Amino acid sequence: MENTIRSLQQEIIDFEINTPEALETFRLRYTVRKGLIATLFGQLKSVEPAEKPRIGQLLNELKQSADARLSEAEEKLAATTSESGKGIDLTLPGRRYFTGSEHPVQKVLGEMKKIFSDMGFGIATGPELELDHYNFDMLNFPPDHPARDMQDTFFITNGNADSDVLLRTHTSPVQVRVMLDQKPPIRVICPGKVYRNEAISARSYCVFHQLEGLYIDKNVSFADLKATIYSFSRQMFGSDVKLRFRPSFFPFTEPSAEVDVTCYLCGGKGCRVCKKSGWLEIMGCGMVHPNVMRNCGIDPETWSGYAFGMGVDRTVLLRYKIDDIRLLFENDLRMLRQFPA
Ligand code: PHE
Repeated sequence: MENTIRSLQQEIIDFEINTPEALETFRLRYTVRKGLIATLFGQLKSVEPAEKPRIGQLLNELKQSADARLSEAEEKLAATTSESGKGIDLTLPGRRYFTGSEHPVQKVLGEMKKIFSDMGFGIATGPELELDHYNFDMLNFPPDHPARDMQDTFFITNGNADSDVLLRTHTSPVQVRVMLDQKPPIRVICPGKVYRNEAISARSYCVFHQLEGLYIDKNVSFADLKATIYSFSRQMFGSDVKLRFRPSFFPFTEPSAEVDVTCYLCGGKGCRVCKKSGWLEIMGCGMVHPNVMRNCGIDPETWSGYAFGMGVDRTVLLRYKIDDIRLLFENDLRMLRQFPA
């Protein structure tokens, strides 16, 4: 018995405990209730009575040294585990950080701006909080004229006076500001947000983006307007796109038209998006009304010009197959992350 104890003592001292597995082997071999040391304690009763105190003493020492080695090894292992970063799986792919990117509306607006600036248009911007005067009066909307109802206005101050403040319902007031500011010839586009008090749904929202254009020079004709819109549409929607001009009405242009392009989803055959018609309406346009020119101090006998205005968001929805316009305004990262730079 004594020999067994001594050889176990040596074994315990020599046992290498460098891994959790070795620790577990050590524990099971020596210190558990059915381990070697416990078994020796069981055999103590068959030792000669005279020897019992000595052997018991040796056994106690053996048990103490086993316990001491166990807890010392446990501590050591716990420390090295966190130091060396054990538990980290080095084969995992690295984390990707979303670095931010252009909003889909800005991407499409960017393309539109590029096409027009290649044609010689400058870019003008103006306030979204606008005076009634610029949004309506200067654009030849008579007071109390039903045309004001075409655009459901968010008024900030009440009434219909010139000085009333509102959220601009179109970007045409920017064109007024440009005409008041600059002498012809003028060639600008005005991109920006506009606001209308419409019922909110997947197809329409109280805020959206417009891009309007204005060209004033000598002898500008409707043919120039058509050529510009044709050129824009071919670059934006594809070279085989067809256009249709329908007579329309805007207080600030005369004559006026609305422009349709052949649906670029079905190629004009008719689908759900174009409501089986084969056409998509893309903009309003016309020759700048002489009253608007006079309001801005430009002589309509000398100068003539055209203007056009289009919605941007609809093109964004179609381009990226987004089925709800509200997604463009919610700033939900789950949506935006689908448009990496
Ligand atoms: N301002 C018009 C609108 O918002 C669009 C337009 C602009 C029409 C210029 C004709 C000429 O509906």
